[in-house]
Amino acid sequence: MKFSIKSTQMDKYCVFGNPIEQSRSPFIHQSFAKTTGQALQYDTCLVQLDGFTEAVYDFIAKEGKGANVTVPFKEQALTLADVLSERARLAGAVNTLVFKEGKIHGDNTDGEGLVQDLLRNTVQLKNSRILLLGAGGAAKGVILPLLAQNPISITIANRTISKAERLIAQFNNEKLSACGFEQTAEQEFDVIINATSASLSGKTPPIPTSIINSNTVCYDMVYGKSLTPFLVWAQLQGANSVIDGLGMLVGQAAESFNIWREVKPLVEPVLHELRTSLNAE
Ligand code: ATR
Repeated sequence: MKFSIKSTQMDKYCVFGNPIEQSRSPFIHQSFAKTTGQALQYDTCLVQLDGFTEAVYDFIAKEGKGANVTVPFKEQALTLADVLSERARLAGAVNTLVFKEGKIHGDNTDGEGLVQDLLRNTVQLKNSRILLLGAGGAAKGVILPLLAQNPISITIANRTISKAERLIAQFNNEKLSACGFEQTAEQEFDVIINATSASLSGKTPPIPTSIINSNTVCYDMVYGKSLTPFLVWAQLQGANSVIDGLGMLVGQAAESFNIWREVKPLVEPVLHELRTSLNAE
């Protein structure tokens, strides 16, 4: 569908989701705007479960320039976009929309947010052996950006093995392999990334304790006021370092901001502020 955008003084952005009041995206993007000297407006947009397309067109009509998309609309955003980046297509989900030249462009910055956060934490990805736990949407979204870092291998372990096998079949890359949690005991890994939703229900994926040693870096895409169950467990097993997903959240936002504004904001100050407010909750 075609549309036209008139110019306004303050460019408008928003995040579509349901629920949305808990979203930290307005805080993050408003902070980025301040530190990069950009004049923009960024709001939350609560969307009815059957109203995503309407909400997007409504925002475009109000001269919105771009948007983030969160749960549960990332797959619908993929269908709605006229133009998709390769990483969005392979992630099967869109978290960033750009409205320009009469078209809706869909991208996915989640995986790049993870990669940038790992690199910022001086985690080596090149020539490393990566274990990715989980085979749902979160895991799928990070595979292509992780492969772009040129690791030796990415092993995808999942409770339901067939789902991990189906996932790697979509990528057709010899560096990818799939297995169950117990089979990981037969291999060695430098970096273990938890992309399961287990932490959200206070659980830890049942991986063998033997795969953690003093060189292993453990990352959980989930974050919270305190360390996630997976990271507590990894620390107890003597992991080299444990990192939660707060930096990934800020990293994906920084990448979206860069797409919209062509300015790469600094991640650290916002991350520091978010961590402080999270600890005070
Ligand atoms: P998301 O979009 O967050 O990835 P999802 O697509 O529902 O959510 O996927 C959830 C992932 O977490 C799956 O890999 C799931 O394993 P199954 O495919 O076997 O269902 C995994 N998961 C959820 N709870 C888990 C638990 N308690 N232990 C291990 N894996 C779990």
